[in-house]
Amino acid sequence: MCGIVGYIGDKKATPILIQGLTRLEYRGYDSAGIAVIENNKIEVKKDKGRVSNLTLLDGIDNLEATIGIAHTRWATHGKPSKENSHPHMDMEGLFAIVHNGIIENYNELKNDLTQKGYKFISQTDTEVIVNLINYYYNQDKNEDELKFLRAVKNACMDLKGSFALEIISNKEPEKMIVVRKDSPLVIGKGNGESYIASDIPAILSYTRDFYFLNDYEFAYLSRNNIKFYDTNLNEIKKETKAIEWDSKGAEKDGYEHFMLKEINEQPKAIRETIGTRLNNSKVSFDELSFTREYLEEINKMYIVACGTAMHAGLVSKNIFEKLCKIPVEVDIASEFRYRDPLINNKTLVIYISQSGETADTIAALKLAKAKGAKTIAITNVIGSSITREADYSIYTHAGPEIAVASTKAYTSQVTMLALIALYFAEILERADTNKINTIKEDILKLPNKAEEVLKDTSEIQEVAKRIYKERDMFFLGRGVDYAVSLEGSLKLKEISYIHSEGYASGELKHGPIALIDIGVTVIATITNKDLVEKSISNIQEVISRGAKIIVVTNQNIENKGFDTIIRIPEISTEISPVLSIIPLQLLSYYISKEKGLDVDKPRNLAKSVTVE
Ligand code: G6P
Repeated sequence: MCGIVGYIGDKKATPILIQGLTRLEYRGYDSAGIAVIENNKIEVKKDKGRVSNLTLLDGIDNLEATIGIAHTRWATHGKPSKENSHPHMDMEGLFAIVHNGIIENYNELKNDLTQKGYKFISQTDTEVIVNLINYYYNQDKNEDELKFLRAVKNACMDLKGSFALEIISNKEPEKMIVVRKDSPLVIGKGNGESYIASDIPAILSYTRDFYFLNDYEFAYLSRNNIKFYDTNLNEIKKETKAIEWDSKGAEKDGYEHFMLKEINEQPKAIRETIGTRLNNSKVSFDELSFTREYLEEINKMYIVACGTAMHAGLVSKNIFEKLCKIPVEVDIASEFRYRDPLINNKTLVIYISQSGETADTIAALKLAKAKGAKTIAITNVIGSSITREADYSIYTHAGPEIAVASTKAYTSQVTMLALIALYFAEILERADTNKINTIKEDILKLPNKAEEVLKDTSEIQEVAKRIYKERDMFFLGRGVDYAVSLEGSLKLKEISYIHSEGYASGELKHGPIALIDIGVTVIATITNKDLVEKSISNIQEVISRGAKIIVVTNQNIENKGFDTIIRIPEISTEISPVLSIIPLQLLSYYISKEKGLDVDKPRNLAKSVTVE
């Protein structure tokens, strides 16, 4: 995954680079480094460990340079170590590079270069790129102003895989080159200066005007100018896009952790996601120009995503099938892309990705498109890679999500999917109008009801104190509550490192009940009034085996031997996950905090998985 930052202008680069890296640390945090050009010479400072370690490195404070590149790493090739940290330099020390992505043919390229006499000091694929640039640079006998760019371009054409790169050179001390292919990178335009980063929030406090590069577009930056080139090195024109996100969104704003802030931002995020779509009598989606004839022809829908976004898809299967009468399959992107799914021009595929950069999700989208399906991307990040691939892009308006464990993005995705289902349903007229209208009214109530859930968290904090030392937990539910259980269980695993499993309540007795013993905690969600009785009898099965039960419900259920009952406001079952997940998010948060763990940056995880 990794995060990259760059600066070129007239300010001191180091503090800007370090601040940018700090904001990108959720993308990887096993080593960090910077390279700047000072007195026409490249200076590199790097080490393993977190970005905060960088500030302790000898001489870093004395760097006065106004051009530099920086990197925070999530190891793929080569263990976390000083040698493997970025930036990397070529053998002669002419270039410094930072890289996010994976070069699939790096072994082949490394062998070639080794035969040509190149020596390597790290195990990374990145060091191969920078030496390849050196090779092309030295081969080139022309001494014109594009020589540096030509070397980078030639090297990039040899690479297979994904990359976002920033390169500086002491041969061109006033220049920087950036390029991307399948890995994220944005360029922020300042006044006589430019900022580069893996994502928008990292540099949002400096500028709101952004350039987005397509694959294989090269940006050649000098202090007060940027030129863009295609692969033939013909100059191309690019326009900036204004980003409306509030830069405060990328700061903790008084909260102890980003995760807690983002959990609390959910009412606002849901409100913004609904926007004006429900103002008129019919749900409106100007981005989608679907006719009744087209929708009637669809014989299958897939919802494809990874992690939490996939769980949002699982919740939504129910509402699409109920209101639109179209069969829906929900799939994990990494499975979908390799299982030769049945797709034709009557298939509609919805992809969900908070970041819009998840490699598997993007690959799964390209596959369906190639087979003739229509594709819709739901993402939170404007200009992200997925929006360049999908036929239609719809933005959730959750604002920047920084904590690795996703919260407000999930509830916004579930809300957005419900809106799309309603939009289709109103065109198709296959469902009861009263049902449609009730759900529409309830969607408008979601922000206030989410506020109610967040008002008093003391009971959840108490529960967290009681159970944080446990080793295993189970999450149960039926229907949409089962999908919520999977997401609740994922949250707990991610940030508390407690083993947990989400199970369909009715399936429990087919295996997992063997693991229920005295004192094991079981968390059950019950929001469907038609399934209350059945859910309660499943709970009794585990109570009689000694389990401690925590129930999250919006139904009028009596406490029949439960340890705790957490009550949430009633709402249509189809959209109840937007509310019922909140206590589970909070429970995971307080358990993680109780254990003294790094809530926002759990071990081994990254926010945006841009590798397979
Ligand atoms: C990573 C993150 C998860 C996220 C998943 C999909 O695993 O840690 O929080 O749900 O990627 O990310 P996306 O950006 O595609 O929603």
